[in-house]
Amino acid sequence: MTMAGTRTLSIIKPDITRRNLTGEINARLEKAGFRIIAQKRLRLDRPMAESFYNVHRERAFFNDLCASMTSGPVVVQVLESPDAVLRYRNIMGATNPANADEGTIRKDFAESIEANSVHGSDSDENAVREIAFFFSEIEIVG
Ligand code: CMP
Repeated sequence: MTMAGTRTLSIIKPDITRRNLTGEINARLEKAGFRIIAQKRLRLDRPMAESFYNVHRERAFFNDLCASMTSGPVVVQVLESPDAVLRYRNIMGATNPANADEGTIRKDFAESIEANSVHGSDSDENAVREIAFFFSEIEIVG
């Protein structure tokens, strides 16, 4: 039997790429037991950011969020582990770094609620949708 696990979509945000900390995030992910089964660096343009975060379109923070996400390169990745969505949310920490637990990625790296270092899918259903937004199946190698 394999331990293929489940998948979640991760985005390493511009505040991390700007500070050259991508490898530190990846080291944490691998130490936490995730396999990075797809990964690419790209720069989101405004339409892509708006489309990715479409569920937040009516929120007051939508403009600032899209501005932050297009301010520099991101690294998008597919992470695999048992219970990937929940496990990644646990090591990311709370959305607002002020509320994030000790030892979480956002506690240790995030600059603000927008520049909060990483994004992770919030459900298996959204993980499937978000992974398909960035990757084709031939780019995902488990
Ligand atoms: P992320 O996981 O990328 O999903 C949506 C993002 O919106 C979130 O992380 C934050 O960076 C940003 N954001 C800004 N303000 C808020 C807020 N009040 N509530 C939730 N998300 C916010």
